[in-house]
Formats: sequence, C-alpha cells, structure tokens
Amino acid sequence: MAGLFITLEGGDGSGKSTQSALLAEWLVGEGRTVVHSREPGGTELGVELREIILHRRGYITPRAEALLYAADRAQNIATRVRPAIDRGEIVIQDRYLDSSVAYQGAGRVLGGAEVRELSLWATDGLLPDLTVLLDLDVASGRARLDADDKVFDRLEAEKVDFHSRVRDAYLELAASEPSRFLVIDGALPVGEIARAIMERVARLL
Ligand code: TYD
Repeated sequence: MAGLFITLEGGDGSGKSTQSALLAEWLVGEGRTVVHSREPGGTELGVELREIILHRRGYITPRAEALLYAADRAQNIATRVRPAIDRGEIVIQDRYLDSSVAYQGAGRVLGGAEVRELSLWATDGLLPDLTVLLDLDVASGRARLDADDKVFDRLEAEKVDFHSRVRDAYLELAASEPSRFLVIDGALPVGEIARAIMERVARLL
C-alpha cells in the first residue's frame, strides 16, 4: 500500500487537532497504520526548538524565526515523516509549510515565496498529498480559544489584523493549488467536517 502525507492547516482554534484525531480513528478502522505528527515539535529536537520559538523571552528576528521553523521541519520530515510514508503508512500532520508561508509571510518582513522555498529546501521538496484547510473567521477562532476575552487594546487589534492576513494568505495558497487543498468552513459541525475530509481521503486510498 502506498503511503500518504496529509496535513491540516488553519488559524489557531480552527479545530485541526479534533479533526486529525477523527481522521486517524477512521483510518485505523480501515486497517491503515497512522502516524500522528505536528509542527513545531514533532521530534526530540523539535520539542526543544518549539520551546525556543514559542516560549523563549526576547526578540527573535523574522529570518531567525523562519529558520527555526524550517529546522524543526527538516528534522521532522527526514526522521519521522519520510520513513513512515516509505513504509506505506499514513502521516497526519497538524501544520506544515503552508503555516510558514501564511504566518511568517504575514509578518510583512518576509515574502511568501521565499518562505516556501526555504521550507522546500529544508524538506528536500516534500509536498503533502492532501492539505485540509479549516477556514474560520478570526473572531470565531479567537472566541473558541478564549471564551471571555474582554479588553480590546491596541495589541489585540494588531493581533486581529495579523490573523486576518494569515487567513487571507491561506485562502490564496489554497486557490493557487486547488488539487492539493481541500478548503472546509471551520464553522460547520465537527461531524460534517469530518465526513467531508473522509470522503476526500477515501479517494486517495
Ligand atoms: P500550536 O501550539 O501548535 O498551536 P495550534 O493549535 O494553533 O496549531 O502553535 C503553533 C504556532 O506556531 C501557531 O501560532 C502557528 C505558528 N507557526 C508558524 O508561525 N509557522 C510555522 O511554520 C508553524 C508550523 C507554526
């Protein structure tokens, strides 16, 4: 059986982890071996890099940040993802290069095309067989993450602006590679989203 590489993308709070768990459960029921992965932090080195990227105090330049995500990705793809695909397994991964293009590109310092090139260099050109984009407007995503967010200050406004650029970037990516992407309205009921993903994956099996 041929291996598959499926990635889930979307803003924070869009429901990626719920959907990857449901997809994995279904595929295991179909008799497939599933490897679950995520970026950043899918490997031992990645856990250390994740800590640096997400929690280290102090300024990290946009280029350094892009390289840290790329280093995490290089290690994850070479040591976990490619070997699993070669064994004929199905890798379901939360976030991949489209996250870098959307988030690092949205910082306005780096261009999406160069961020994508960096990721492709890091992974020796691996693209997913399918990328599921859970599209959700920024307000709903935030509401899910933080049910009682009251104060709307300048920083919050910047965040909203940043996240709407991330969303737009994702939608542009999906439009430019329609055969790789499945775009689903993240506001739909969980079961309905899961069914749409299963239908699409079934065609790839
Ligand atoms: P994570 O805790 O994995 O959250 P989520 O549930 O939203 O996936 O957060 C990872 C954060 O890192 C998320 O805000 C997006 C960001 N990110 C990038 O900016 N670039 C990347 O290449 C990746 C993989 C993640």
